[in-house]
Amino acid sequence: MATQLEGQIRAGTVAELKAAGCRVVTGGGHAIAVIYHDGQVHAVDNRCPHMGFPLDRGSVKDGILTCHWHHARFDLSGGGTFNPFADDVRSFPVTVVAEQVWVDPQPVARNEAEHWAGRLQDGLEHNIRLVTAKSVLGLHSAGAGYRVPLRIGADFGATYTAAGWGPAMTILTAAANILPHLAEEDRPVAMYQGLLHVARECAGRPPRFVVAPLPTGETRPEIFKQWFRNFIDVRDDDAAERCLRTAIGLGLPPGDIADMIFAAATDHIYLDAGHVVDFANKAFELLDHIGWERASPVLTSLVHGMARARRSQELSAWRHPIDLASLVWQARAELPELYAQGRRQRGRWTGADALAGALLSESPGDILDAIKAAIKSGATPGDLGSAVAYAAFLRMAHFHTSNEFSDWDTVHNTLTAANALHRALQRAPSIELMRGVFDVAISIYLDRFLNMPPQRIPETGRAPVDDNQILAELAEHMDVRQQVEPVSRLVSRYITGAGEPDALVAALGRSMLLEDAGFHSFQIVDAGFNQYQARRGTESGRHVLIGLARFLAAHAPTPRAVGQTYQIALRLHRGEELFREP
Ligand code: FES
Repeated sequence: MATQLEGQIRAGTVAELKAAGCRVVTGGGHAIAVIYHDGQVHAVDNRCPHMGFPLDRGSVKDGILTCHWHHARFDLSGGGTFNPFADDVRSFPVTVVAEQVWVDPQPVARNEAEHWAGRLQDGLEHNIRLVTAKSVLGLHSAGAGYRVPLRIGADFGATYTAAGWGPAMTILTAAANILPHLAEEDRPVAMYQGLLHVARECAGRPPRFVVAPLPTGETRPEIFKQWFRNFIDVRDDDAAERCLRTAIGLGLPPGDIADMIFAAATDHIYLDAGHVVDFANKAFELLDHIGWERASPVLTSLVHGMARARRSQELSAWRHPIDLASLVWQARAELPELYAQGRRQRGRWTGADALAGALLSESPGDILDAIKAAIKSGATPGDLGSAVAYAAFLRMAHFHTSNEFSDWDTVHNTLTAANALHRALQRAPSIELMRGVFDVAISIYLDRFLNMPPQRIPETGRAPVDDNQILAELAEHMDVRQQVEPVSRLVSRYITGAGEPDALVAALGRSMLLEDAGFHSFQIVDAGFNQYQARRGTESGRHVLIGLARFLAAHAPTPRAVGQTYQIALRLHRGEELFREP
């Protein structure tokens, strides 16, 4: 008669195990494979950590356990895997007393947060999205908080792409920005999607080599600002990067660093169609999440793109048939004087929505004059940013589906540039950065043909609505292609019927996360959420959400492969069965 070992599971005698090779016992919520091999007994979780195949159906040779589904291999003695696409399998302590084999149903202890942080690094390095999804879930349930995976992704993305800041880091930051507006269960999905874009964009790219700071006696912010602008102007990215790295290393205040970057980002007209300001703004937003101590690697990753950016004054659309660039240069030159004239009324100006309407004019001269008049009347940099952002959302709300499909991106691009400029103006208001308002306004003007004819925005109404019914219909429409107008009407009905706006915002976020969402989808959801928050309960807020929803509806459904991987990870995480016998 075997002596009972407290809390342990009896797996039979050594002789029985030797004859059977493997036995499965259960306890502590685990199915445990107890395996006899080469004179020793080992116990591991019977679910393959890759996708749950029963490991008792695998094979053992030379101390290596091989799963027969995708052939992941594990060191039988400790459970460590030889294949990064799988994970280490949990092992359980085994005791042999008087030829009886006992298994402790508590797996060998490990630090869960540390383990999953390491696995996330593996997922990023090997660009394996299932590992990334499992790691995000593992960190989430270990209580690590969103900043832990965000910092890992940010460090990786800032290091492993020689070209510097790009769409993936923008997506990662947008994912972090939208978290507070999402349903609790969708937050890890957003983080997973942001991280997988970083892994994808960095795959196969060389790392960025770090430039050492200058051994300088110079400490004046205005000198660094002047140097940096000059180096960007002549496209000398090495010199500009060294200058920026030195300024950050010297401990110049974040406001001064932002000022020098945004000034250089607007010294030329609408650099890279607004992407330079967009990326710079996102880099600062990322630092808001992960801390200023990472400013050096994050902000210097912007420099290459800033120096190489296309300058819109060189584009024919900005020169012909109307010399828009010259109009913008002229308006920029007047800016300091106009701003000085508006000093007394600063902060009392209330014409943001009217200005947004004027920005949709068909005369570039009238558009620039309307901005100049607003500045002279006391509009703040933030007011101007808000007006251009709203005007850009109106372009999206009025975008007609008879346009080419790719034209959605044209309108979208202006919209995200406008939102970024608005955010940047709130962070680091300056005369230099205000020049960007003229640039974005002219981009809105150039998009005017995409509102011809303008799609009608649904009427307002006050009929009470069944919130849940509308949200359910919204989700159904997102399952069908090109439901742009039905979705627009649903969103409008929801808001005008006094539906709970946070639920609608979360539902729109979920709609995006269900898809194989990319750069543009994350950007517009981030921009839409940001612009809506400042306009809650207003007509302009309704227009913003309609614009956002129309874009999402136009781009749904996708194959949803990214979400399928996440669902696999989630089911494994919950202990559900993935493999079923035929
Ligand atoms: S290798 Fe085991 S389930 Fe894939």
